[in-house]
Amino acid sequence: MAEISLPIVSVPAHIQHPPLSEAQEQELTDKIKRLLKEKNAVLVAHYYTDGKLQKLAEQTGGCVADSLEMARFGTETAADTLVVAGVKFMGETSKILNNEKRVLMPDLNATCSLDESCPIELFDAYCNQFPDHTVVVYANTSAEVKARSDWVVTSGIALEIIEHLAKKGEKILWGPDQHLGRYVQRVTGAEMIFWPGSCVVHEEFKSVALERVRRLHPEAAVLVHPESPENIIQQADVVGSTTAMIKAVKEMPNKAFIIATDKGIFSKMKEVAPDKILIEAPTVGEGATCQSCAACPWMGMNSLSKVAAILEHGTNEIHVSPELAEKAYIPIKRMLDFAASIRK
Ligand code: 13P
Ligand code: SF4
Repeated sequence: MAEISLPIVSVPAHIQHPPLSEAQEQELTDKIKRLLKEKNAVLVAHYYTDGKLQKLAEQTGGCVADSLEMARFGTETAADTLVVAGVKFMGETSKILNNEKRVLMPDLNATCSLDESCPIELFDAYCNQFPDHTVVVYANTSAEVKARSDWVVTSGIALEIIEHLAKKGEKILWGPDQHLGRYVQRVTGAEMIFWPGSCVVHEEFKSVALERVRRLHPEAAVLVHPESPENIIQQADVVGSTTAMIKAVKEMPNKAFIIATDKGIFSKMKEVAPDKILIEAPTVGEGATCQSCAACPWMGMNSLSKVAAILEHGTNEIHVSPELAEKAYIPIKRMLDFAASIRK
């Protein structure tokens, strides 16, 4: 089998959005509310985006959610336009599921290191070497990669789907997040091979430094997103999607939590559990530097000003050709139907 040589993903610097006065922020928020109504549009935001966007999404009948729920919400709303504040794969998934709707994104450069590390030509060649494997891809992929797969999964449903496939005796080719894939394999015992991609944000959590923080806060529960490396996951009390992590902060009796995921999630956590102490898992350790520092630079590209601008001008529309959407729809719909069947 040929070695996979991954493309080098260049990680942008964090965008510094121009600061807004209270009055400017109010004016923008009012403008977005008016435009959403006028255009019969909804705002669908991920938990890693700016807290102000998350709040606005909720106040205006949109949603703030993990990537599974964002996909589902788009199929259930009566709005004609979905404004997806997140990263490219989220906008594409919305478009694939709702080809008749207009999908706009605040910044078309907002991508994801997992998506970028898995170009279709290389992934297709890899899959072709293992024709007897079921191809399961993480939602953090392009429409083309989804169209090449049998199943799409998000972190919120990956364990259940792989368990289901393993029970049927299927061998799995998993891509692109190797850490999530290996975690799922350890839990389910499924026979799996892996595309060697990773998330630049979660890759930076440091295990020795985390042990130290745990010693300083022995009462704290450790919550870890499964895109993190194995030595971080091993220290977790809870491993789960962004939604599962927020639920844990709300429902677990602990007073303090150490959180290993993008710090954008803290705004929702503070809202649902204002009395709890939230501690960032460390991203620096001996001799290490952090590039992302627990803040996804692509998620950070979303802002109130950009949402107002795209709504006003109808720009930054996501296009997926109907032929491609038709193919990519099948594995995504399979995931949504499976999720609905086990959560009845
Ligand atoms: P969730 O589906 O858990 O929200 O994760 C999406 C993601 O990109 C995490 O980095
Ligand atoms: Fe992709 Fe990681 Fe950013 Fe999530 S946090 S969008 S996996 S780069």
